[in-house]
Amino acid sequence: MTSNAPRALITGATSGIGLEFARQLADEGYDLVLVARNEERLRTTTRALAAEFGITAEALVADLGTSPGIAAVCEVLDTRRIDVLVNNAGHGLEGLTLDTPPEKIRAMGTVLYDAVVELSWHAAHAMLERGRGGILNIASLAGITTMGPYAASKSATLVFSESLAGELADTPITVTAVLPGFVKSGFHEVIGADVSAYPSLAWVTAEQVARTALRDARAGKLVSVAGLQYRIAYGVGQILPRPIVRSISTWFRKTRQTSP
Ligand SMILES: NC(=O)c1ccc[n+]([C@@H]2O[C@H](COP(=O)([O-])OP(=O)(O)OC[C@H]3O[C@@H](n4cnc5c(N)ncnc54)[C@H](OP(=O)(O)O)[C@@H]3O)[C@@H](O)[C@H]2O)c1
Repeated sequence: MTSNAPRALITGATSGIGLEFARQLADEGYDLVLVARNEERLRTTTRALAAEFGITAEALVADLGTSPGIAAVCEVLDTRRIDVLVNNAGHGLEGLTLDTPPEKIRAMGTVLYDAVVELSWHAAHAMLERGRGGILNIASLAGITTMGPYAASKSATLVFSESLAGELADTPITVTAVLPGFVKSGFHEVIGADVSAYPSLAWVTAEQVARTALRDARAGKLVSVAGLQYRIAYGVGQILPRPIVRSISTWFRKTRQTSP
């Protein structure tokens, strides 16, 4: 029998922020379609969520850094009812631009930006036909800085989300750009960044990011920032002259060589 429960598709749902979105939506009774590359971890995650929350959770193994991976997820968005799309999958890059092979930069940009554009396009068309739906794109506070190709991809995702939200303003479809600050997850480990010296004020939790984002999306907010410290940082970032943003970004990158 086909379930009438609302259904969410979440990319990068086996760890960190994506896993929190999956848990919170499952707790609300959503069925899930979860996307990631590591099949074993993905299947373990879907089984665990289905058992804990009594929902249906499907695994879709796809590498969003590749065209076939993106196409496989777009096909699901075209053919299945997806009420909420969370474009979350991604990873950073450690090191300065000129020390990083360009193909690594391109691969990161494909996951962080190209996949987000294509999945949003397919989801928005399908949601418009059904007259409802929500798209959440996980960008980053790095996207308002000039901290390297990662920040550039996140900035592009933020601008794309703002633009798409404008196009969909008179429709029931919402688009929300989520801008996390530093979150303890697999992210920093994957890129080999040492964040042990970061002060406790620098951190928000994945739970906080997902909860704030879902609340803001339902309130129709275009930009979601979790944590007072990061809401202040976002506000300051909107009014700081760009040369100052550039100077701070360059200093931070050269001293720490990592960004959220
Ligand atoms: N953590 C932070 O401080 C922070 C701050 C701001 C923004 N963000 C953003 O938040 C999002 C989630 O990051 P996180 O901190 O939760 O990281 P995480 O714990 O490392 O989780 C990343 C998830 O994305 C999946 N993934 C990575 N590359 C993929 C690909 N090519 N195709 C499909 N799935 C892929 C991973 O699974 P597989 O490895 O199995 O594919 C995993 O499920 C990212 O977009 C990141 O840029 C993170």
